[in-house]
Amino acid sequence: MKPVLFALPGNEALAGALSRCSGWEEGSWELRAFPDGESHVRFVSEVAGREVILVCSLDRPDEKVVRLWLAACVARELGAARVGLVAPYLAYLRQDARFRPGEGVTARHFARLLGAAVDWLVTVDPHLHRIRSLGEVYAIATRVVPAAPPIAQWIRAHVTAPVVVGPDEESAQWAAEVAAAAGCPWTTLRKTRRGDRDVEVSVPRLEQWQGRTAVLVDDIASTGKTMMAAAARIRAAGMAPPVCIAVHALFAGTAHQDLLDAGVGAVVSTTTVAHVSNRIDLAEPIAAAAGALLAGGAGAQSA
Ligand code: R5P
Repeated sequence: MKPVLFALPGNEALAGALSRCSGWEEGSWELRAFPDGESHVRFVSEVAGREVILVCSLDRPDEKVVRLWLAACVARELGAARVGLVAPYLAYLRQDARFRPGEGVTARHFARLLGAAVDWLVTVDPHLHRIRSLGEVYAIATRVVPAAPPIAQWIRAHVTAPVVVGPDEESAQWAAEVAAAAGCPWTTLRKTRRGDRDVEVSVPRLEQWQGRTAVLVDDIASTGKTMMAAAARIRAAGMAPPVCIAVHALFAGTAHQDLLDAGVGAVVSTTTVAHVSNRIDLAEPIAAAAGALLAGGAGAQSA
């Protein structure tokens, strides 16, 4: 029997795209909340003996995780051969250190929770800094889909004379990869974050890029403050309004509109988090990564 995909709410478009490019069945199920707010999960499509794939991007994870956990547990209870998770945005990885006394490395705790629920995981550009690979915190098989090649392809098709600008020095390797594939120069900003919504950036020697369009590429846009601060610097240097590309369009509250109002040229994102700014479709590489894990059988390793 074919693998069967189930979309958690908000992930229907991605699950449909995955089904179209892989041939996997889109499963039918009932998900609803009881009057008291608890979740009810009922699989209508057969899952016994099958590869089950749950599709659930983990932006705003606290609202989603109980339902996802229950869905995975019920699929196993009903005899699924394996349960995999396609979570194009993987939450909690920014909390990868004890920044202040009394905090915890919640990235590890979250990984334990997800790792207990599913057998494998596919994600896109996880936010890895102090934790250097998913294998450090996830004990299950994982695959990471790089967003750089499709982003570079989009830049080539839509921006004349671009210069890729990474948000901070940690992004140098990534900005370089996007720029190399797009065939253009790149630079990075220097970022100082003073609080959740207080970011300052400096952009070294911007004058050399006069006549080019800055393409700000960041893995996450949350408050949008990083992109807004960078865009202001770019405009102050007399350059054209920058194009902003986020891999993961989290956009808290009014952040997306705030960024548009800040006078940027365009705001574009990949399809890892369903959002009005989605322009760069990642269904094919995500399906390929999930297919590789399915082909690897029970002992599939991380890559
Ligand atoms: C930080 O390390 C990330 O790469 C992003 O720059 C950050 O998460 C963006 O957040 P915000 O949109 O809130 O400035």
